[in-house]
Amino acid sequence: MKIGIDKIGFFTSHLFVDMKELAFARAEDPNKYLIGIGQSKMAVIPPSQDVVTMAANAAARILTTADKEQISYVIFATESGIDNSKATAVYLARLLGLKKEIRAIELKQACYGATAGIQLARGFVALNPDSKVLVIAADNARYGIKSPGEPTQGGGAVALLIGTNPQILALEDGSTAYTQDIMDFWRPLGKNEALVDGRYSEDVYLNFFSHVWQAYLDKTGYQLGDFAALLFHLPYTKMGLKALRIALKDARPDEAVNFVQEFEHARTFNREVGNLYTGSLYLSLLSLLFNSEKLRAGQRIGLFSYGSGAEAEFYSGIVQPNFKQGLMNVNYLQVLNERQEVSVSEYEKLYQQHLFSAQEGRVAYDTDPARYFFAGISDFKRQYQEK
Ligand code: HMG
Repeated sequence: MKIGIDKIGFFTSHLFVDMKELAFARAEDPNKYLIGIGQSKMAVIPPSQDVVTMAANAAARILTTADKEQISYVIFATESGIDNSKATAVYLARLLGLKKEIRAIELKQACYGATAGIQLARGFVALNPDSKVLVIAADNARYGIKSPGEPTQGGGAVALLIGTNPQILALEDGSTAYTQDIMDFWRPLGKNEALVDGRYSEDVYLNFFSHVWQAYLDKTGYQLGDFAALLFHLPYTKMGLKALRIALKDARPDEAVNFVQEFEHARTFNREVGNLYTGSLYLSLLSLLFNSEKLRAGQRIGLFSYGSGAEAEFYSGIVQPNFKQGLMNVNYLQVLNERQEVSVSEYEKLYQQHLFSAQEGRVAYDTDPARYFFAGISDFKRQYQEK
């Protein structure tokens, strides 16, 4: 029985900052951001969007009435949670109009969370082949303004529908995981921005990649040539390129060219959005599926998932004949191109206006064109609305 990713939907806000403008404002050479970090634009998440609304906007792009009937489990992966008790998945299920006979939970392990969600979903579907699971990867990547992490912010949500006979990617057996207690990046309770030891986090990411990649090759007997493309968690796109170079160290030149070409397709959208933490790997998958001209049914894709703290997994899937249909005809190039640029000072203002945790207040949402939005907090209850 084939189990895997049947549909993928993506949402990010309608606002962005141009990385050249951010570089000028921070007195940096623009090429540091464009080439050194590998980012062209950075999504700016307005106060009227949070992980719940972004997830609802992403899921609404893919779910049909029939899907909603079949979904019996919602797994919401995020490290930008909004409550210590109530799961984001419960709000989401109500917003999407899912039936009440479901399970709805929230999962966390930094940027690795969504991969854990997919693996859990796979097991659930194996036991319940008539069911579908909605896995959400949603985050708002926030570092301090003017901190070294600032150009690696971003945000958005990826919705993945997991089921039997998937249209996009059939998951294979034999993944390799690795966990070690490490302080490379963390978000202490009560703080609204991440803390990070930047250079160290890059080293840990690359060490973990080397470990799970080699372990995966040893376990499965596959070689580099058995893959059509390798995908990476992309906190910024240069990070994935560094990991790809490790995988390609013994590759033939023609083989390496092919992997680099596919990597360029796989980082196209991430370059335009920035980090979405746990959704980044799956935005990269969407970017490859959407932009690659060579990708064919039957080919194997490798996926490297990394979450600080730290946990990593390498796994693979086989591209399915109807993979384009699983994107539901959304023209993501157009979606990204139609966004509105904001100046650096506007971005800084929006950054400060977010309502966090137990604050009370209303949020300006009139200019937000998204279908689902966050209107504010009243009586300590978050107010979610649909246009
Ligand atoms: P920095 O110190 O500002 O930058 O921090 P730098 O001086 O290291 O420069 C960055 C790169 O730009 C370097 O290239 C420079 O050479 C190059 P590299 O040595 O890395 O190849 N550069 C230039 N290139 C072309 N033209 C120029 C130029 N100038 C410089 N003129 C850092 C960079 C990434 C450390 C910082 O932004 C940061 O701390 N970011 C956040 C942490 C992060 O994303 N870490 C990634 C691994 S951890 C992870 O992926 C998990 C995460 O997603 C969280 C989670 O799991 O939840 C973060």
